[in-house]
This record gives sequence, structure tokens and C-alpha cells, in this order.
Amino acid sequence: MNIIVEKPKKLKGEIEVSGDKSISHRALIFGSISEGITEVSNISKSKDVLSTLNCLKKIGTKIEEREDIVIVEGSKLKEPEDILDCGNSGTTIRLLSGVLSGHPFYSVLTGDSSLKNRPMDRIIKPLKMMGGEIYGRDSNKFPPLTIIGKKLKGINFKMEIASAQVKSCIILATLFADGYTEIEEPYQTRDHTERMLKYFGGEIEKNGSKIIVKGNQKLKGKKIFVPGDFSSSAYFIAASLVIPDSEILIKNVGLNSTRIGFLKVIERMGGKFEILNKKEISGEPIGDIKIYYSEKLKGVEVFPEEVPNIIDEIPLIAVLGSIAEGKTIIKGAKELRVKESDRIKSITTELKKLSADIEEKEDGFIVKGVKKLKASKVNSWQDHRIAMSLVIASFVAEGKTIIENVECVDISFPEFFDKFRQLGIDFSFS
Ligand code: S3P
Repeated sequence: MNIIVEKPKKLKGEIEVSGDKSISHRALIFGSISEGITEVSNISKSKDVLSTLNCLKKIGTKIEEREDIVIVEGSKLKEPEDILDCGNSGTTIRLLSGVLSGHPFYSVLTGDSSLKNRPMDRIIKPLKMMGGEIYGRDSNKFPPLTIIGKKLKGINFKMEIASAQVKSCIILATLFADGYTEIEEPYQTRDHTERMLKYFGGEIEKNGSKIIVKGNQKLKGKKIFVPGDFSSSAYFIAASLVIPDSEILIKNVGLNSTRIGFLKVIERMGGKFEILNKKEISGEPIGDIKIYYSEKLKGVEVFPEEVPNIIDEIPLIAVLGSIAEGKTIIKGAKELRVKESDRIKSITTELKKLSADIEEKEDGFIVKGVKKLKASKVNSWQDHRIAMSLVIASFVAEGKTIIENVECVDISFPEFFDKFRQLGIDFSFS
């Protein structure tokens, strides 16, 4: 499916975005390994979360999907009769590998062509150290993964890459291991797993950059409300900053400090916004964000230690940088090369087609702001975050932009176009 986008007039109104994808995956997984019933409300309806839900059903979890609530009944997991299809979802394959490594049965996990080329050695290594038996294609590098569940033991593990998926995989495996696990992160990554473990009655401690988790824990099912997805909100924040006369309110957004680095970046760029009604629900901070058109954005330098907190928003920062005054520099973001697409290559290639002045670097990019972007035909590379970032770029390009293969937005945010319609923007599809 292709979309034709023109410069819109302005964004006005109030929206709520659907539940956070990272938290939704975790709510389903924690529900399935806890005793009793977990009720999840405001869950993400994304394809990625559906991948987790379907895999959990195949390993014996009873899940009932009602209109506004998903009910998960924790029970003993069982050997799946068939392969587990994780679709496009890195979170599904990496987090479930942690759970499955500690269960005494055989399972095979695979996914689509993008997932089959994403690195899994980063989880295979620590899981093997824990006593797990796990194999991957091409000398244990890529999916499909085969896991033969074993009794695990806790480890001391210093992570080389900052990855919440790797950290969460090890934490989940530890819940089925003897002893304790100590994990050290190079930089703080999103901490939804740690928060949720505590919320489900588990024990986990933080000591500086070290996380200490107790093995063999019993958790209790809970009622959990999933906050609105900050990463989905970021597209509306960016659009309001760059479309003249815009002013919008996004309600009930997750404001976990390990996720909202994008707000710090746009603040430095001169973006105007306010945070209202901050509170905590189900162990996560949540609130409303009001955003105003911000006429003169300035280029910024983004540092390696900030990268994990803006990891999914970096293509969008490239878009903002392409029309901001001066240079925007991103360094230390090599991880982007192993996302759903090589996001350094995909965003630089596509923004160049819109006349942006952007230079690809091994670990990031340098973008010099131009006065105007010009419409053209661009492609999503079948990557949801590239598709949505290109929609925002098209809002500021002169003329009609055609974006090819935008159906991939369903991977994280099926309501993306509808929410823009709610704020007064229309699109035509072809
Ligand atoms: C996620 C962590 C991030 C992020 C991904 C979701 C998670 O990946 O890019 O979209 O839910 O833990 P890494 O932790 O591998 O960087």
C-alpha cells in the first residue's frame, strides 16, 4: 500500500495513543509465568504484540481477548506442537528465548525475513553461560533458534551492547534459574522489565549500573494498565513542532525516564512543549504532553549515552534535523544498523530523495538543515519507524510525496493514520 502526503494546514485537538508496545509484550509474558489471573487493559493492538500473544498461546497459556481487556491465565508452560512465529518482533524472540531456556522442553523460534537476519548471538552467549541449550543459524548467530530447556543457574554478565531486549532476556531466564544473576549495562536502557517484575511481586535490585535478580521467583498475576506508547506519540510531537499553528494534547502517555530522551533532544532544538498531570499507574509514570508549533528549530548534537533512550526515535530526529537551522549530529548509534532495517542507511537514503542534506556515518549521521524539503517518491524499506518518520518529513516537503509500502505501520501502530485524521489531516492511499 502506498500513501500520498501533502503539506497539511495545522494539527489541532486532543488524542490518546494506544498502549506501549514494550510494556504490552512484557505484561503478556509476565502474566503467562505468574500464578493466577492477569488482566491487561489498554494493550497495544500492534502486530508485534500479537506475535507474542500467539506464541504464548502455543506454549499453553490461556489468553482471552475481550473488547478492552486481555485476560491471561498463568499456568505450567508446555512444549509447542509447531514452530513459534515471532513475525517481525525482536522483543518477542529475545524475551521468549529467556523464558523458554528455563523450561524442560524443545521449541523452535523463527520470524519474517527481517527478523531472520537480526543478531541473536547477543542472547545465545549469556543463555549458554546460564547452562541453556540454544542454537541458531550460521554458527549460532541468527534465527531460527532451537531451544532445549534446561535447569539454569544465575550468572554475572557485563553487557557489551546497551540493549533492553538482551537485559530482559537474562532477567526472565533468571526467574527459572538457581542462585542470583548480576547484569551490568554499558548505558541505562528502558527498565520496563525491572519495574514489572517488582509490580508482579518479584525481587530485583539496582546498584549503580548493576542489576541483581534473584533466581526461582514465584510471581502473582495482577491487573495492569498499559500507558500510551511514547514512541508512537513522538510522531505527533514532531509533526506539531513543524506544522505552523499546530497545538495538540496527547493524553495518558508513558513518561518513563528511560524512554523520553526524545523530549530532551527537542528541548535543546528549541521545541515547545509542556508535561501535565504526571502520575504513576501500574508501576510506570504517565502523563499528558501538550505540544506547540516551534518556528525555529536548531540542530543538536546527540551523544552515545543518550542513544538507548532515543533508540526508536533517531530516524525522526533525522527528519527534524533536516529542516532545523545548522547541523544535527548523531554518534554512537551503530545499533540502528541491526533494527528492522539498517536504519542509518534507510533513513539517509530516503531523506536524500526528499532533498535533505544528510551524510551517512558508520555509527550515525550528520544532517545539515535545508530551507525546504522537496516531495518525491520514497520507500519505507518495510520498516514501520521509517514509514512513520517519512510521513512527518512529507508534511514539510513542497509538493506531493508518495511513500511506498506503508502497511508496515501496523507492526507497532495500526491506528497511526486514524489518529492524524482525528487531528484534521487527510491522506489518500493507492
Ligand atoms: C525494546 C528495546 C529496544 C527497542 C525495541 C523494543 C524492548 O531494542 O529498539 O523497539 O521492548 O525491549 P534494544 O533493546 O535491542 O535496543
